[in-house]
Amino acid sequence: MSWIVREDGFRKERITTNSNKFMIGNGYMGYRGTMEEFTKSELTATTLAGLYDKVGDKWREPVNAPNGLFTRIQCDGSVLSVLEAEPLEHEQELDMQHGLHRRKTTFSAKGDNRVTVLSERFCSAERLHLIVNRITIHCSKDCELLITTGIDGDVWDINGPHLERMVGQVEDNCLVMKGWTHELNQPVSVVEAIECNFGEKTIITEEQSIYRQIVVQYRAGEKYTFTKYVSVYTGMDEVENISLAAVQSSLEALRVGYAQLFLEQAVIWNRKWEMSDVTIEGDKEAQHALRYSMYQLHIIAPEQSEKVSIPARGLSGQVYKGAVFWDTEMFMLPFFLYTQPEVARNLMMYRVHTLDGARRKAAEYGFEGAFYAWESQETGDDACTLFNVNDVFTGRPMRTYFRDKQVHISADVVHGIWQYYTFTGDESILLDGGAEVIWECAKFFYSYAYYNSRKERYEVLDVTGPDEYHERVNNNAFTNMLVKQTLFVTIEVMKYLQNKNPERYEIILSKEQDGITLEQISHMYDHLYVPQPDQDNKLISQFDGYFKLEDVSLTELKSRIMNKNEYLGGGNGLATTTQILKQADVILMLHLFKDRFDQETKQANWKFYEPRTEHGSSLSSCIYALVASDIGSPDWAYPYFMRTATIDLTGESKQYVGDLYIGGTHPAANGGAWMAAVLGFAGLRYQGDDVIISPALPEKWTAIEFPLCVRGQSYKVCVSKEEVHITSHINNTNTMLFTICGQSITVPGGQEITAPYNCIIQT
Ligand code: BGC
Repeated sequence: MSWIVREDGFRKERITTNSNKFMIGNGYMGYRGTMEEFTKSELTATTLAGLYDKVGDKWREPVNAPNGLFTRIQCDGSVLSVLEAEPLEHEQELDMQHGLHRRKTTFSAKGDNRVTVLSERFCSAERLHLIVNRITIHCSKDCELLITTGIDGDVWDINGPHLERMVGQVEDNCLVMKGWTHELNQPVSVVEAIECNFGEKTIITEEQSIYRQIVVQYRAGEKYTFTKYVSVYTGMDEVENISLAAVQSSLEALRVGYAQLFLEQAVIWNRKWEMSDVTIEGDKEAQHALRYSMYQLHIIAPEQSEKVSIPARGLSGQVYKGAVFWDTEMFMLPFFLYTQPEVARNLMMYRVHTLDGARRKAAEYGFEGAFYAWESQETGDDACTLFNVNDVFTGRPMRTYFRDKQVHISADVVHGIWQYYTFTGDESILLDGGAEVIWECAKFFYSYAYYNSRKERYEVLDVTGPDEYHERVNNNAFTNMLVKQTLFVTIEVMKYLQNKNPERYEIILSKEQDGITLEQISHMYDHLYVPQPDQDNKLISQFDGYFKLEDVSLTELKSRIMNKNEYLGGGNGLATTTQILKQADVILMLHLFKDRFDQETKQANWKFYEPRTEHGSSLSSCIYALVASDIGSPDWAYPYFMRTATIDLTGESKQYVGDLYIGGTHPAANGGAWMAAVLGFAGLRYQGDDVIISPALPEKWTAIEFPLCVRGQSYKVCVSKEEVHITSHINNTNTMLFTICGQSITVPGGQEITAPYNCIIQT
């Protein structure tokens, strides 16, 4: 059962949650887990990666393509829909092993007729433009069926409609629906080919939709199956005629047939799991939730494109403008780095391709270099507005400082590229633009920082750290630490280039008009202030003056809330004047730089910040889990891990901030669940020399096993309570040094080792 996610029975109030939960996708598009008979009112969506549009003065957001999977069945005149009457039986399932969605519903129709509809669908992992949907109908009595199936162009949009001049037509016996986006006039074509050898068919064309109506005189007991091959192409694809390409894709799929297409799907998904699956012994619930988290990451990973990255709500719709945040580098990247480095590369190359947008943003604010977008779309220009939240009491827009003050984003990007380079040793990332990104980010920080000549140090003033409830603060420890790392990386990369590729080095430096030199970057690196632990109590101040804020308990703060959706940050927010923070901030720094802080410091800060953290962001819990494991307290970590890993299964997450809907899937938490299990409980880390494993397994876990890819070498690691077993892949040529609880051990290519360990776990 651990590969199957399932819900029995239909509940209207679960429609939105289940549409997120039962999503399918292939990185090119995401398809929400809605029923075939649903329309835009149930938030049906085929969300396309990387295609954005703006209507009037509303926010830009990704385009939802016309819905090629629309099917409505009528039996003897009455509509079979879970929305119209309670079904006799209803099951919805995800087969995570193969990226397949299944739904089976039994309706009660006229004359005691039991009609069962089984529908299976998948977004092809082999043919990224293709969604396949097979529907089988079985009735217990003779009856007349009227099936309306085709492409519904009247789709759910938050700030749409995005397609204009929509035309529906038939080409080569395929239904074609084409429209153009408002802003950039990008064409979008959806095509459906059908395999259906029964009934009489007529074409129905409406303003934004095109369907086939199939009339069947049904004979009791028989099974009728039809299969839809739906293809999506847009102006972003490199083909001359997108409708023609979509028709060809659907006809080719029709020729290949469902069985063979599913086989292709199974092969690719097997490969994905081979490279990534983690097995947990002793805890079925955790196993299921963790696998589900990885499933969510797989369906949105841009495996084929370095022009798109993963938005904060994946491909589950248009929430958060379909924008890419720091979530990708800090929370999702590690999963791909350790399992599918080529996807990690694509994610980082997206930042290279959007460098110009980051340059424009820096210039807009009067700085040098590259200031990455807080909410990044296809060009890298910032989609984040200055008034991102409306006050629930007055309805007035509130000035927020996500866009202009979360400067750590540029350091997060550098961190991501550096991680990729260190893990893989793939120099091409630097030569293909990564070095330039790093250099530009360093220049941005140099121009942003303030040199305090009295204290003879650089400071980073007027920023917002990860904790968004405290805006415009000075010397946020997390930000300063990451800026310092950016400067370090810049110096290293420029040294490397000077030696290995002097030409490139000269090119990067010669582009300078601003006069910022490497010496200045080095000077800043040597003199940048980073808040340190207090000598007595070891606490690190989140920012200057943090400890002077009101020290209130979370319960007390919550008792002051007057409206359940009120925003706790901003000018008048309840948390603003207190020590309550939205999400891991200092604790995230302790995770990222775990070698630089002793256990006492980590423990003191965890204990201090934990009761003060609201976890108002889904990015928070996993970090508390990671640091708890690091300090040898896996049982403190466990509830945080479970909260992270189940977020999209339970649907229990914040749905509104002010009056802004923020529901959808949570890929950062999905990545966080993997991190908490593998980097946390198994204690895995790689920093360029040896692979470190310092396990701290939760009580009920007897073992955890996972694949690992470092520097092009693949391993299988199994950590139990007593020993670590490492199998080096048969094709590995190099030896690798592993350090297990402080003991070094060499693993030769193609061999296996078992090492007993004795890490100290606190209880
Ligand atoms: C968090 C940010 C995050 C964004 C998108 C916000 O609620 O505070 O850190 O980047 O959501 O997930």
